Amino acid sequence: MAQCISGLVRRGLCVPGARLLRSFPVAECTQALVSRHPNRCFSGTQHRLQKVPGDGGTTDRITLHFINRDGEKFSVTAKEGESLLDVVVHQNLDIDGFGACEGTLACSTCHLIFEEDAFQKLGAIPDEELDMLDLAYGLTDTSRLGCQVQVKKWMDGLTVQVPVEVSDIRRELEVEKQGKQ
Ligand code: FES
Repeated sequence: MAQCISGLVRRGLCVPGARLLRSFPVAECTQALVSRHPNRCFSGTQHRLQKVPGDGGTTDRITLHFINRDGEKFSVTAKEGESLLDVVVHQNLDIDGFGACEGTLACSTCHLIFEEDAFQKLGAIPDEELDMLDLAYGLTDTSRLGCQVQVKKWMDGLTVQVPVEVSDIRRELEVEKQGKQ
C-alpha cells in the first residue's frame, strides 16, 4: 500500500495529504480498469457547446449552478434522479473534458466540489467511487464524482464547483504504458 501511494504521488496522480483511503499499485489499477472497461478508449469526451441559461424552473425541475474552471457560472434546471454528469451533458455545459468515461467510474474527470452542508446530505461514498476520487487532482473534503451523484429535490439552488485541475487516470496510465515500450 505504501509503495502504491508513494508511486501515485510521485507521478502526480494524487495530492499529498488528500484522502488516500484505498489505493492499488498502478499495475493493478491498470489491470482492474482494463478488465472493468475493456472497450473504453483513452480519448476524453468534451462538452464544448454553448452556455444554457436557467429557465427559471418549474415545480418538478431543480435549479443547479455549476462553476467551471474559468469561474464561469452556469445555472440550469435538472430532473430529479438524473446524475450531475447527465445534467452537464444534457445541458451542454462548457466544462472541458468532463465525464470522459461516460459515467463508468474509470476517469475521475467528473470531479465536483460541493458546499459542506450539501456534501453531508449526500451520504456515504461507495468504495468504487472512493477509489477513483483518490486519483483525482485537487481533492477536497467535499469532493464527489458527478457521475455518481443523483439530483434530489433538496438540491434546488445548489452550487457545485469544478476543480481547477482535472486528471483522466486512463490517459495517465496510457502515457506510462507507452513510456515503457
Ligand atoms: Fe468518469 Fe465519472 S465520468 S468517473
